This record gives sequence, structure tokens and C-alpha cells, in this order.
Amino acid sequence: MSLKGTENIVWHETTIKKAERQKQKGHKSSILWFTGLSGAGKSTLANALEYQLFQKGLSSYVLDGDNVRHGLNKGLGFSDEDRKENIRRIGEVSKLFVDAGTIVCTAFISPFREDRDAVRALVEKGEFIEIYVRCSLDACEQRDPKGLYKKARAGEIRDFTGISSPYEEPNSPEIIIDTDQLTIEQSVQQILDYLQKKEII
Ligand code: PPS
Repeated sequence: MSLKGTENIVWHETTIKKAERQKQKGHKSSILWFTGLSGAGKSTLANALEYQLFQKGLSSYVLDGDNVRHGLNKGLGFSDEDRKENIRRIGEVSKLFVDAGTIVCTAFISPFREDRDAVRALVEKGEFIEIYVRCSLDACEQRDPKGLYKKARAGEIRDFTGISSPYEEPNSPEIIIDTDQLTIEQSVQQILDYLQKKEII
């Protein structure tokens, strides 16, 4: 007998299925997974995109690293292990959003390829859209919107992505946005075009 009692947990099929929710909403649901360095523009783009989706009357939601770490993932730090758990939980939550018929825009550094691929594997083919928010470390460091790079260089923050902790670039993301070359409007349009082409919206 397991001490935790987890052997007594049984999966319940829901009465309303994902396809019915999508039909009611008039569009497919998916995970738009923004990944990139701190300061690359993930949150800005995720919010700007969601604004456009919302204006079109679509069901959408933004999950953002800084915000989620205030609640659901409060207590997790920035060790490799904690980042892995951070992304695992976000992946599971994102899967629930997809099941609920919503387009979820997630903005997390998510530095490890293996962890992003694990989220991809949680949902059906085509439901996980990896968006690499590409920006050089130099440019991110120049921007330094929260002053964190400066602190990391001064040794005041340990395990800082790009400085003292790795970032693994996506091998074949569905979309690459070069935020040091495109405006926010152009970047959002690039994503909208993709979603239309794939008949998600
Ligand atoms: S991760 O790697 O996916 O678990 O990170 P995430 O949950 O997206 O959180 C990143 C934001 O936390 C702030 N911050 C740090 N980032 C990287 N490394 C270290 N050590 C760190 N400490 C705090 C930072 O504001 C990140 O936000 P963004 O929006 O990416 O700049």
C-alpha cells in the first residue's frame, strides 16, 4: 500500500469535450509558448498579441513568469531544478487552458530545450507553438528594463540567464521574432499571420 494513497486516484472523463468548447468559441485552442532571454520582449509581445486576439473576440489568456512566480509558483527559485519544476507546472496549466478552449500565451524564459519539449509532448500535434523571441544578449543587457543584468554582472544575482545560467535556443521553433529588428506591431502581425495560416484563428 502506498503511503501517499495515489493509487486510488482515477481519471474522470469530463462531460463537455475540448472540441465542443472550441466549436462554441469558434476557434481552436493552443499554447503560444514565448521563450527567450530576460528583456527579450516575451511579456510585451504576449500581451500585445493577446490584446489583438481579445479585440477579435477570441478566448485568450496570458501566463507570465513574474506573475506566476507570485502565486502558483511562489517559492521556486532559479536553480536548474526549480526552473524545470516552474515550466512543468506551467505546462500542465497551459494544457488545461487548451482543454478549456482558450489560446494561452505563456511568457517564460524556459531556458531548457528538454523542458519546452516536455510541454510540447503534453498536447496534440499543432497545439504547441514555440515562439523564439530572439534578441542578442548584448541588446537585452543594453535594455535591462529591471536593472537585473547590472545586478547579475555585479554578482548580486546568482544563476542569471545568459550570464551565469544557460539559455538553450530552440532548434526548430514554429516562429522566430527578432525583437531588435521588428516593431511590436510587425512582430504581432507575424504571429497573427501564422495563426491564420494554420487556421487556429
Ligand atoms: S524560468 O527560467 O523560465 O524559470 O524563468 P521565469 O519564470 O520566466 O522568470 C524569469 C523572470 O524572473 C526574473 N528573474 C530572473 N530571470 C533569470 N534569471 C534569474 N536568476 C532571475 N531572477 C529574477 C526576471 O525578471 C525574469 O523576467 P523576464 O520577463 O524574463 O525579464
